[in-house]
Amino acid sequence: MLFIVHLGKFEIPFMKVSRTPKSRIDSIDFSNLPFGKYFADHMLVCHFRNGAWQEPEIMPYGNVSLSYSLHALHYGQAAFEGMKAYRRLDGSIAIFRPLDNFNRLNRSGERLLMPQIPEDLFMHGLKELLRIDEEWVPKNTEDSLYIRPFLFSSSEFIAARPSEDYTFVILTSPVGPYYPGAVKVKIEDQYTRATSGGIGYTKAAGNYGGAFYPTQKAIEQGFKQVVWTDHREHKYLEESGTMNLMLRIGDSLVTPPLSDRILAGITRDSILTLTRNWGMDVQERLISVDEVVEAARSGNLKEAFGMGTAAVVSTIDGIGYKDEVFSVPTPADGFAMKIKKGLTDIRIGAAPDKFGWMVSI
Ligand code: COI
Repeated sequence: MLFIVHLGKFEIPFMKVSRTPKSRIDSIDFSNLPFGKYFADHMLVCHFRNGAWQEPEIMPYGNVSLSYSLHALHYGQAAFEGMKAYRRLDGSIAIFRPLDNFNRLNRSGERLLMPQIPEDLFMHGLKELLRIDEEWVPKNTEDSLYIRPFLFSSSEFIAARPSEDYTFVILTSPVGPYYPGAVKVKIEDQYTRATSGGIGYTKAAGNYGGAFYPTQKAIEQGFKQVVWTDHREHKYLEESGTMNLMLRIGDSLVTPPLSDRILAGITRDSILTLTRNWGMDVQERLISVDEVVEAARSGNLKEAFGMGTAAVVSTIDGIGYKDEVFSVPTPADGFAMKIKKGLTDIRIGAAPDKFGWMVSI
């Protein structure tokens, strides 16, 4: 397919498509989809060179040939996004809030001094890629096609200055549930994920790489994830692993307020919108570790869960702090399950899309 995109005064032919001669789809067991292990037949690749985006290309998923001096490998000028496409009950395919992911990738790019991606390149490229690999969107309503757009510095030099070339790629991967069950988390009081004035609000690759070490320590202590706390005093909760955090204290839903240390989660925003629309009491405010410990002790901590693209709603059944572990209820008819179902119903078309979140391909 060839059409023209206008980029300011530039006009570029859009886009080159080369299809795989043989699909790999028959080799995938769609009843067992570990997160991020399988990739669909095609990917989108577009290079930024000489100050301009070049012709994008959809090509068979495969390896790249890159120099060991690749800038991103040395200086981590790289950011990614995570979003999902769903097969709806009528068989059609729709993407959940892709423009929000597009805007967030450009916010990450701005902070990391990478070029802005044109909306047409992102949206038309994504839709065309999904149309080509439509069969890869799982049919089971628990599953989805995870979409991983990413942008990295691709000049080949190791001077410590911004890259001149960049590469934008979209991969897709059929996925099942991220966590098979509830998770036990540890309130982190030593290591820090993000600091004020830093890049915590972006999806910079390094934010995730830097979290592996403290997370591994928590795993060795019997937890699945950490709950990040503020960098100054480790007194206030911030995020939960790679997700935003929500607590149900009494009958209120409480989540930390956004700041430059917290990722503005699109699932977080969707859950706030949905639950407020249902008339629930939802508070975005500072939550101290002391408050959580006290609520857990008094039985007022009724539920806790992480909110993210990959895990959607991930229930927490235990919170560790210092030498204690507090149990958290995970009621089958609780808020977390109701919210998860509310989101799923909108995504698969079982409930009206009253917020205009779904974008058909
Ligand atoms: C998300 O759920 O939003 C993520 O970014 C998860 C990913 C790091 C696996």
